[in-house]
Amino acid sequence: MCGIIGFTGKRRAQEILLNGLARLEYRGYDSAGIAYFRDDQAHVSIRKTAGKVHDLRAVCDKDNESHCGIGHTRWATHGGVSTANAHPHRIGKVSLIHNGIIENYHELCSKYDLTSTLMSETDTEVAAALFNKLYDGDPIACIKKATPLFVGSFAFCILFSDHPGEIFAIRNVSPMVATYAEGDGAFIASDLTAFIDYSKNYFIVPEYQILHMTKDGIDLQDLNGKPQEITYLSVDWDVTAAEKEGYAHYMIKEIHEQPQAIHRTIDARIKDSLPYFEDDGIPDSLFSDVSDITIIACGTAMYAGMVGKTLMQNKFGIGVNVVVASEFRYERPVISEHTLVIAVSQSGETIDTLEALWLAKKHTEKTLAVVNVKGSTIARESHYVFYTHAGPEIAVASTKAYSVQVASMYLLAAKLGLVLGKTSEDAVKEFLDGLRCVPDLIEKTLSLESRASALTKRMINAEHAFYIGRGLDYTLSMEGALKLKEISYIHAEAYAAGELKHGTIALVSEGVPVIAVATQSGVYSKVISNIREVKARGAYVILISKDRKISDKSICDIHLSIPDVRDELAVFPSVVICQLIAYYASIGRGINPDQPRNLAKSVTVE
Ligand code: AGP
Repeated sequence: MCGIIGFTGKRRAQEILLNGLARLEYRGYDSAGIAYFRDDQAHVSIRKTAGKVHDLRAVCDKDNESHCGIGHTRWATHGGVSTANAHPHRIGKVSLIHNGIIENYHELCSKYDLTSTLMSETDTEVAAALFNKLYDGDPIACIKKATPLFVGSFAFCILFSDHPGEIFAIRNVSPMVATYAEGDGAFIASDLTAFIDYSKNYFIVPEYQILHMTKDGIDLQDLNGKPQEITYLSVDWDVTAAEKEGYAHYMIKEIHEQPQAIHRTIDARIKDSLPYFEDDGIPDSLFSDVSDITIIACGTAMYAGMVGKTLMQNKFGIGVNVVVASEFRYERPVISEHTLVIAVSQSGETIDTLEALWLAKKHTEKTLAVVNVKGSTIARESHYVFYTHAGPEIAVASTKAYSVQVASMYLLAAKLGLVLGKTSEDAVKEFLDGLRCVPDLIEKTLSLESRASALTKRMINAEHAFYIGRGLDYTLSMEGALKLKEISYIHAEAYAAGELKHGTIALVSEGVPVIAVATQSGVYSKVISNIREVKARGAYVILISKDRKISDKSICDIHLSIPDVRDELAVFPSVVICQLIAYYASIGRGINPDQPRNLAKSVTVE
């Protein structure tokens, strides 16, 4: 989704803005622009383009000396992809960039008679027009008057042309972070990645507080003018974590980072082979009277939740409901005060998940966020937070975040099983000792990379592909199919292997790739029968299983043998293979897997 960067200080702004926008490219966007005080005087210049950051660079002045400006990458919502619709928007003395959606922009247009000043089709330009209409030379007064009039989500960064060197900002829902770096100046961004080159410290801009940045510092005040304290946070990763470090793409780098990410996520949470959440501030009492669990999440995070469900329900008999967060609000949630609601999110900013969480909080005080980004909104809004420690995930396709989410589900399942008396300490110890082996398992599986790459050659011309499995293999297949769809654009669906013959098998014809996952011993022979059914109809079958060798050609064309692990842990090596298949299918089709079309890393609009 849209990205924001702003800087005022001692350095030249243009390079900071353009480099910051390049760092934000991973969020997904279709146009880009900057606004800056020309020659640091009371005049704002704008450069923007319907294209990528390198296109924007081409239309920028080479010798721009400005020390204050704002930049934006736009992911189109209102109005198509065009230079006119790209941000920044300028009306009169106001130039601004905006993340979010102003829902009442039509009403504002007619109520304040703004239409004649508009040049674009965007809700953002209406906001610029409104700020301009209410502006009488005092930026803070203008923001105080305009902000309560907006309905929707917004993160605004505003330049007032008669206030050179100053940036003003305000937000509701849409995230924004800022920092003051001694010697450099003040930075603001939609996420820390944009200014991580300059500072590992940052603060979250609080909602409905006016931020005023100059080269000398940052002030914060509420809408009544009361000064507010700034609370800084810091991250334990640096700029290299947000770089490719020799890999061709972020995605493949992140696939390879999974062993370390899992170590970071589980090691400190297993003590004497038992789950240990004291350092997270999560008390056992959170779990002790849980009657059932609802998991809310979107996309990959939801599929991690599905694995959690299969595990918790099948292993420990705890009822789990996994709900697509964007639908949760429109269902009648069956939640009681004893329901534990788990919100899973890499970014911690997905608006659908956040809205679902807010609704859940009306029914229970047992909400737990499983989130990767420290201090993110979902983390702050939940009663408890269980951070995953994947480090920054830049590629749009989630890989390492999924693995650590799944690992977190295993830890939570173990804790729930114990606290609710559904299992014994010895059983949990065995279970978690197995979990500790996962980083090594993934390491071993990564040695199959060249085989995964080679087999995709037969897939790249496919229009459709299917993933099949039973039990945990089925839930894992959903993630495999999503990965393939989003970065290779091959239409892929996951089916419970036993369900195929109830309709979908009609789509299986000569050469259609079927990725069959058969790692669960209890249903192994049944899955093999299902595989034979598709093989007999001409499918190109890629089998993922724990068998050392499959020589029977009536079962599969390609066999990838994962390390011999307990059934419940097979998800980890299997997903790595699915990730590699998706990655190499994407490369084979000439697509940049890091920036698939139409997708955004963090989905902050409904
Ligand atoms: C995963 O590859 C996708 N990019 C997407 O499904 C993602 O998992 C989903 O949008 C949820 O994001 P979140 O984890 O940041 O909430």
